Amino acid sequence: MQEDIREVLLSQEAIREKVQELGQKLTQDYRDLNPLCICVLKGAFPFMSDLVRFMDIHLETDFMAVSSYGDSTQSSGVVRIVKDLDASVEGRHVLVVEDIIDSGLTLSYLLELLRGRNAASVKVVTLLDKPARRTTGLKPDYSGFEVPDAFVVGYGLDYAEKYRNLPYIGVLKEEVYSD
Ligand code: PRP
Ligand code: MN
Ligand code: MG
Repeated sequence: MQEDIREVLLSQEAIREKVQELGQKLTQDYRDLNPLCICVLKGAFPFMSDLVRFMDIHLETDFMAVSSYGDSTQSSGVVRIVKDLDASVEGRHVLVVEDIIDSGLTLSYLLELLRGRNAASVKVVTLLDKPARRTTGLKPDYSGFEVPDAFVVGYGLDYAEKYRNLPYIGVLKEEVYSD
């Protein structure tokens, strides 16, 4: 698997430090708010798992699966709900946890949906932000790293469902996805 990676963009240690920093910030901002942290499956599962363990407050977790990419490197523009939330968001302080914001389509769709369900507040924390590819006006409330417009995988991010289990974030070799 590692032989498919051109370069390591963010090491395991760099990720851990940043996730801890975000967790501490969120601990301050969400104290006494009992936030509902929503993991956007599948990509956000490692980030969410690490992040909530750095949040030293009462919180609840829920999971939603949406997909816009399928096995392609290009977003289809159509967001599909694969699994909806178990909890009601009405009156809740919702924190949407994402691995990466690219075009912003996934989150625009999700935020509109959650606001329509009458959440008290809806904010976004993303580990990675790729502003070069944004086609929507979307800006995350909390963001870990800005990344360049390269095909990044690992720590939840996939290419054709693979590489999610890499402990670091790397750039995929072009020959792996260009046929
Ligand atoms: C990826 C990524 C984000 C989204 C970002 O998910 O995890 O959720 O795309 O792209 P966007 O800003 O252009 O919408 P994907 O649809 O590949 O599903 P996955 O999380 O299951 O890999
Ligand atoms: Mn995703
Ligand atoms: Mg994906």
